[in-house]
Amino acid sequence: MPAAESVFRREFPVKGGDFAKAGAAACEIKELLKELGIDSATVRRAAIVAYEAEMNVIMYAREARMDLAVSPDEVRLVVADRGPGIPDIELAMTEGYSTATAEMRELGFGAGMGLPNIKRNADVFAIDSEVGRGTRLDIIIRTNGHIKS
Ligand SMILES: Nc1ncnc2c1ncn2[C@@H]1O[C@H](COP(=O)(O)OP(=O)(O)OP(=O)(O)O)[C@@H](O)[C@H]1O
Ligand SMILES: [Mg+2]
Repeated sequence: MPAAESVFRREFPVKGGDFAKAGAAACEIKELLKELGIDSATVRRAAIVAYEAEMNVIMYAREARMDLAVSPDEVRLVVADRGPGIPDIELAMTEGYSTATAEMRELGFGAGMGLPNIKRNADVFAIDSEVGRGTRLDIIIRTNGHIKS
């Protein structure tokens, strides 16, 4: 990303186990992107990606920081958590695979579709994980236009 381009940045902390705030960061991100004038299709994709990443932190990790960076051309989201990590990333990326508990499934989570959905909605997607330390997602979504000025 060229240094000259204007970039809007914001950080969102997320706490593991905090189901009371489920989706709060994703919701804020969605509203921010709308305010910045990002096109609605891009806002929709970013909101899905942010929501699924946030929920995975709430369900599986201890804590995380979601770093949002918005330029006229793209929305970047980095979600780095401290937590158990993912022992088999290929398996975790498989549609339908989930280690969600019975309680989580009762709340409607655990379809095993979060990570595949993130990948589908991102133009660039990278996942790195270290067992016993945590997981990091790097996501880029290209916009379809330009921020209104
Ligand atoms: N941040 C994370 N830390 C540790 N494990 C994770 C993390 N994110 C995902 N996983 C593991 O990968 C699996 C698949 O994640 P995915 O988001 O695709 O499905 P899910 O969260 O189980 O269900 P859904 O997202 O459909 O509610 C999870 O069940 C969990 O075992
Ligand atoms: Mg999930």
